[in-house]
Amino acid sequence: MNKKTGKIYMINGPVVKAKEMTGAMMHEVVKVGKLKLTGEVIVLEGDTATIQVYEETSGLKPGEPVEGTGELLSVVLGPGLIGSVFDGIQRPLEVLRTKSGDFLQRGITAESLDFEKQWDVEVLVNENDEVKEGQIVAKVKETSAVEHRIMVPPNISGKATKVKKSGKYTIDTVLMIVKSEGEEHEVKLYQRWPVRVSRPYKERLAPSEPLVTGQRVIDTFFPISKGGAAAIPGGFGTGKTVTQHQLAKWADTDIVLYIGCGERGNEMTEVLEEFPKLMDPRSGKPLMERTILIANTSNMPVSAREASIYTGVTIAEYFRDMGYNVALMADSTSRWAEALREISGRLEEMPAEEGFPPYLSSRISEFYERAGKVKILGSEDKNGSISIIGAVSPPGGDFSEPVTTATKRFIRCFWALDKSLANARHYPSISWLDSYSEYTVELVDWLSQNVNADFPKLSKRAMSLLSEDSNLQQIIKLVGEDVLPDDQKLIVRVANILKVGYLQQSAFSDVDAFCDMHKQYEMLRIILMYYDRADNLISKGVAISEVLEEKIVNTLMRMKENVSNDKLDQFKKIEQTIGNFFDSLDEKYEKVKEVDKSS
Ligand SMILES: Nc1ncnc2c1ncn2[C@@H]1O[C@H](COP(=O)(O)OP(=O)(O)OP(=O)(O)O)[C@@H](O)[C@H]1O
Ligand SMILES: [Mg+2]
Repeated sequence: MNKKTGKIYMINGPVVKAKEMTGAMMHEVVKVGKLKLTGEVIVLEGDTATIQVYEETSGLKPGEPVEGTGELLSVVLGPGLIGSVFDGIQRPLEVLRTKSGDFLQRGITAESLDFEKQWDVEVLVNENDEVKEGQIVAKVKETSAVEHRIMVPPNISGKATKVKKSGKYTIDTVLMIVKSEGEEHEVKLYQRWPVRVSRPYKERLAPSEPLVTGQRVIDTFFPISKGGAAAIPGGFGTGKTVTQHQLAKWADTDIVLYIGCGERGNEMTEVLEEFPKLMDPRSGKPLMERTILIANTSNMPVSAREASIYTGVTIAEYFRDMGYNVALMADSTSRWAEALREISGRLEEMPAEEGFPPYLSSRISEFYERAGKVKILGSEDKNGSISIIGAVSPPGGDFSEPVTTATKRFIRCFWALDKSLANARHYPSISWLDSYSEYTVELVDWLSQNVNADFPKLSKRAMSLLSEDSNLQQIIKLVGEDVLPDDQKLIVRVANILKVGYLQQSAFSDVDAFCDMHKQYEMLRIILMYYDRADNLISKGVAISEVLEEKIVNTLMRMKENVSNDKLDQFKKIEQTIGNFFDSLDEKYEKVKEVDKSS
């Protein structure tokens, strides 16, 4: 590749134009100015290159040099990723800080991964074995939670030679040389991959298994599958970040990739301080043992925020290729879209809706389409997945704005946060009326086999009670509840039990922060059993006040806190109590009827 030095002739914030750049490539990394700031070529016209610079450009002057590196903007993929905190172009924040203090000096380069650390490597192939692209040829126990699988990079297959024995190695050790058709390729403990190109896989698979999140409103009503794409749109303070953290903690995923694009300085500091403190509820160890954090701090230019999404998803793909399930959270994609808008403005492009560039939608699609469940390159029968969950913060909570509407086209799961629910402290404030999931149908088989054959049916019934309730609420608003017949009053009351006792789930409760799928099933089953038996009595003319016994209603409302995930047999007792209550009502009513008949 041709390395080229050009000259700056225009500087506009993070965007710099340089002349004499013939031979530069699109997306090539360049070193800008005397300080050698890191930049990326984003437009090439003749010998002119437009460059977005990933560091503060103040003080840069026309005439200063721009040096090509011959390399595309890439990430370094290897042991050491887990537990790291990177900026948008994969510079390790800790290392940068120790090098330059809290205020990042410019032009500092730091290796993304530690090249001096020795890792215990177990080599899995022998001299002269045939190896294929993507094949796992070695293993490293990276943290207590993650086994890092060293793979032959894509597009390389052949005979393994000069294979190292298992032992302690640094990541740039050549583990083996793969020979094919006269060419030799070194396989090291790390590989590079350009962030704007998705990594190859064998085949896309149907998303047939849920990503269990332990959040009832999601798992029961709006489930996401492993490999799915979901959006959490919500106005200011409605619970986007708490929901993302809940998913990071509880979703049944091997690896968590968290991209923080906070606009407020303190929001990012919160993530940086909070995340390392989060415990993995399953292992009792720090969540960082299976997490990678990408943080866009407020002192970094918008261009780094633009790149962070691609950096994150490329790292996610690398772990997917090992056969892992990865969950990627981006909080918030609106801040990322705003970075696009700002750069586009600097480029003097013709704006489309609300100043966003016309390619907003295609960029959003390029991001979400990297979600998916796939058959991995290196194996005949192993799968990996990336589930993407993007928060969206529409200004004023207006879901008709461009980022939300564009996002809606590429996700299949929409968890709409509702301001009025948040105001009423109904958390998570995911609206059961405005949200949807298109994965529900594909997950029916899994749920029937792994939870209970009745689960999909119960979930449907509960949702139809909630939507009937929503219609009835319109009437109640106009004329009050008293005019409703008892069977409709019952619907309103049971819907309330569902709202308070089922949909509300505190992220901060020890017992209820996570709800096992079987617990979700038992809770639904019992609430609906209550409804059926009450409805039956009411249809026979029993007054509604009889069935709304306070103790019973309270039991239903409090099951979530009173029964822990490991004591599900307590539901039998609750079922019995409710059963006995209705048996005696039935009996009492039969007697009344008999007395009526004889008199
Ligand atoms: N599941 C939940 N359980 C309990 N409390 C919650 C839950 N979700 C949100 N909250 C409450 O709502 C507050 C705001 O939530 P959060 O910070 O996640 O909102 P946000 O949408 O990310 O806000 P911003 O727009 O400022 O980024 C939290 O501090 C918390 O008190
Ligand atoms: Mg937030």
